[in-house]
Amino acid sequence: MAKLASIGLMLTISCLLAFTLNMSVDARKQEDFVVKEVTGFPDSFCRGKEKFINFRVFVQDLSVNHPNTTTYDVAQASITATSKTGFGKVRVIDDLVTAGPAANSKALGRLQGLLTRADLNTIGIAVNLNFYFSAGPFAGYTLSILGRNEIALAQRELTVAGGTGVFRFARGYAIQKTNSTITNVSVLDYNIYTTYCATINESTRSPRTTHYRSGRSLS
Ligand SMILES: *[C@@H]1O[C@H](CO)[C@@H](O)[C@H](O)[C@H]1NC(C)=O
Ligand SMILES: *[C@@H]1O[C@H](CO)[C@@H](O)[C@H](O)[C@H]1NC(C)=O
Ligand SMILES: *[C@@H]1O[C@H](CO)[C@@H](O)[C@H](O)[C@H]1NC(C)=O
Ligand SMILES: *[C@@H]1O[C@H](CO)[C@@H](O)[C@H](O)[C@H]1NC(C)=O
Repeated sequence: MAKLASIGLMLTISCLLAFTLNMSVDARKQEDFVVKEVTGFPDSFCRGKEKFINFRVFVQDLSVNHPNTTTYDVAQASITATSKTGFGKVRVIDDLVTAGPAANSKALGRLQGLLTRADLNTIGIAVNLNFYFSAGPFAGYTLSILGRNEIALAQRELTVAGGTGVFRFARGYAIQKTNSTITNVSVLDYNIYTTYCATINESTRSPRTTHYRSGRSLS
């Protein structure tokens, strides 16, 4: 009897579930989801004038201990404290990007994003970063970098995964090196090889915010 009652209950639940699922499937049917083929690519994009360029920028990486730091730890895992590689630690950065290694050289923008300790055996950081340029030829455009940064290596290769404006459909790579390390400040050298479109529609430029030198002020 108890068995029959529980079978009955299960049937009721499955009917309710099926009803709910049907409802959401029906709701989805109402929406227009349109996928269109864009013809002419890549000839129409950049009018066939896409170039492969190389430039070098420096990133002023202030440690979490620096009084004006631009880097903050946001999360860690249950293993982080005992892991020899700090596995699971997630850091967010908003570092100043400069044309030369000196902190007071021409400011070009910011390098913003996440660094995640993602290797259990060696210090390997999964990076998810956007160069946001606010001065120089790329002002108003972003370039996105992904990859695995094994910081003990003299040079690290990262992926240029895309971008906006002149960097739409960007593909390439970045060689990252440490230019100098002093107390609480590392200067990182990014040698970037990427595709680029010099003839892009100017309206794709995002509004330029005034760049700032430290993490303190945004104006
Ligand atoms: C570096 O960080 C330490 C620890 O927070 C701090 O005591 C020291 O003043 C910092 N030094 C510089 C030059 O930023
Ligand atoms: C932190 O920023 C203030 C204000 O810009 C500056 O005076 C000071 O020298 C900076 N501190 C360091 C260690 O760079
Ligand atoms: C740092 O960058 C400067 C400017 O390009 C260069 O002269 C110097 O050799 C670099 N230092 C290191 C250790 O890479
Ligand atoms: C540039 O883009 C804007 C907005 O999408 C568009 O209105 C304009 O016609 C474009 N100009 C050219 C030259 O393609």
